[in-house]
Amino acid sequence: MIPTLATTHRMASCGDLRNIDEGKTIRLSGWVARVRDHGGVLFVDLRDRYGKTQVVCDPVNEAVYAIAKNLRSEWVVTVTGTVRLRPENSRNENLETGEIEVVALELIVLNQSMVLPFQIEGSDDVNEDLRLKYRYLDLRRESLQQKLLLRSKITHIIRDYFHRLHFAEIETPVLMKSTPEGARDFLVPSRVNAGKFFALPQSPQTYKQILMVSGFDRYFQIVKCFRDEDLRADRQPEFTQIDIEMAFIDQQDIQSVAEGLVARLFKEVMNVEVPVPFKRMTYDVAINNYGSDKPDLRNPLVITDVTLPAETGFKVFDSAITEGKLISGIRIPAPSVLSRNTYDDLVERYKAAGLAGLILFRMGAQLDGPVVKFLNDDSKQAIVDGFGLKDGDTLLLSTGLGTKYKIILGNLRLELGKILNLVDENQFLFHWVNDFPLLEWDEEEKRYVAMHHMFTSPRDEDMDKLGVDNGAVRAKAYDLVLNGNEVAGGSIRIYKPETQSKIFELLGMSVEEAKEKFGFLLDAFKYGAPPHGGIAFGLDRMVMIMTKSTSIRDVIAFPKNSNAQSLMDGAPSDVADKQLRELYIKTTHVPVK
Ligand code: AMO
Repeated sequence: MIPTLATTHRMASCGDLRNIDEGKTIRLSGWVARVRDHGGVLFVDLRDRYGKTQVVCDPVNEAVYAIAKNLRSEWVVTVTGTVRLRPENSRNENLETGEIEVVALELIVLNQSMVLPFQIEGSDDVNEDLRLKYRYLDLRRESLQQKLLLRSKITHIIRDYFHRLHFAEIETPVLMKSTPEGARDFLVPSRVNAGKFFALPQSPQTYKQILMVSGFDRYFQIVKCFRDEDLRADRQPEFTQIDIEMAFIDQQDIQSVAEGLVARLFKEVMNVEVPVPFKRMTYDVAINNYGSDKPDLRNPLVITDVTLPAETGFKVFDSAITEGKLISGIRIPAPSVLSRNTYDDLVERYKAAGLAGLILFRMGAQLDGPVVKFLNDDSKQAIVDGFGLKDGDTLLLSTGLGTKYKIILGNLRLELGKILNLVDENQFLFHWVNDFPLLEWDEEEKRYVAMHHMFTSPRDEDMDKLGVDNGAVRAKAYDLVLNGNEVAGGSIRIYKPETQSKIFELLGMSVEEAKEKFGFLLDAFKYGAPPHGGIAFGLDRMVMIMTKSTSIRDVIAFPKNSNAQSLMDGAPSDVADKQLRELYIKTTHVPVK
């Protein structure tokens, strides 16, 4: 028994009792999971967060039996009874308390429950919106409870890890200045300051940098962040970061602290060894070879570009070469085979997605495939050598140019990995993607925007390209990728006010605008800012992967649905006109009645 769980209403939890407790008189409290009638004797499965205990209500005890007869699922009861060993043939090995049962001497109903909108057990197929509406019932399910309890264990280890490394845990404001970081801000009107708005933090980025200026040296926080962006399976409008910032460091210092955290979490929570340091690759390699800035390296397929002779004999290749396009392919090693039907389906869909075509080759004694008859010998040899083709291999080839082209091939790579069953779902593969571009061109806004955020430092060797060849400037920015998911992202920061001003200028921000928005940061940098940098993990995403969940909602107690609504409490909701007036707000939206 766990003595600390004893309270006024119970002496043990429903998961505690074992055969050594035989003969004890104890009291348990919990929810009625099920009542079974075994020829007069009623068996009540009593459930709480810790487990289930079988309670026996015998007609011999008339008072108990009379109450037990009326019990329904999810009623809350207290039972006082005697622990006895179950008969040999009715022991339940799947239950931790399966060797014993409690013979009820007294049964008290503490509360009743209405008929449930869905059964607590075996409700995995229930429509998610219904589960979210009754989230309190949904959260009684063992699978969700286990996930949230694991999340609690994870946050405990995280805190211990950072405290041991002398990180200070410091809270930063939830009401802050609107400083968009890529997504839209959630705004909060200020009643006291008429017409003005706070923003909810997209991350505590500026605060943690200022803490470095103040000399805190090592900061961490498990913190809520808010982004008004379109939702996906791994995105929520409010989510939690493990936020980290350090002074007097370089990229590898941040990365090894992050690696240490991950290694400890996986060892202690899942007993999985993740070898550190993690593999590192540049952004360019990630895009060129895997068609993604967060490649899933469990998938062994690689995108390879080959050089063919200027004249191949095949018009498609010849004109691609003249136009300076890449000839890229994915080799599918034997014994995997792609069926003709699957191939035809892929061609149709990937052409629709923007690929010029997808040419099939098969390697036998010699290269085979529908276009082989056009190719001259040198070209055939260049293909066999370029892709390292061996007997039984399949090759899919395409031509094109640019990041978009590679990303389409990257999607094909992922899909092939799934179709051909090449991915070990039980593996946890971490790696870093380094050297992201500093800026990317925003077609809509017709200007450069920061790829990570505007406080990220350019790489030293690219400083002189600033303002000259902006697209070629690489950043001291890095992402941590786990099985194809971006689980953390960070950078080394600019810490000189003049460099920061220059970046603001490149981002199309006037001196006045930069001053208005970030003057406080630029000012702070003028008072002795140390070199610093950091990273932030998406905690929900990490927990989602560690619990093998398919949706981020499964690891958040009260998530929003895909329309950014909380179905349980009905948020967001209309507010009274009086509230709006106090905030000096008029809405133009007319509610649909
Ligand atoms: P970034 O924007 O890369 O960096 O965010 C860090 C990590 O947070 C997770 N994440 C999300 N998780 C769930 N729902 C969302 N909507 C969502 N958006 C992001 C991702 C991501 O890797 N201030 C910087 C960090 C830094 O530079 O130190 C930042 O916020 O796992």
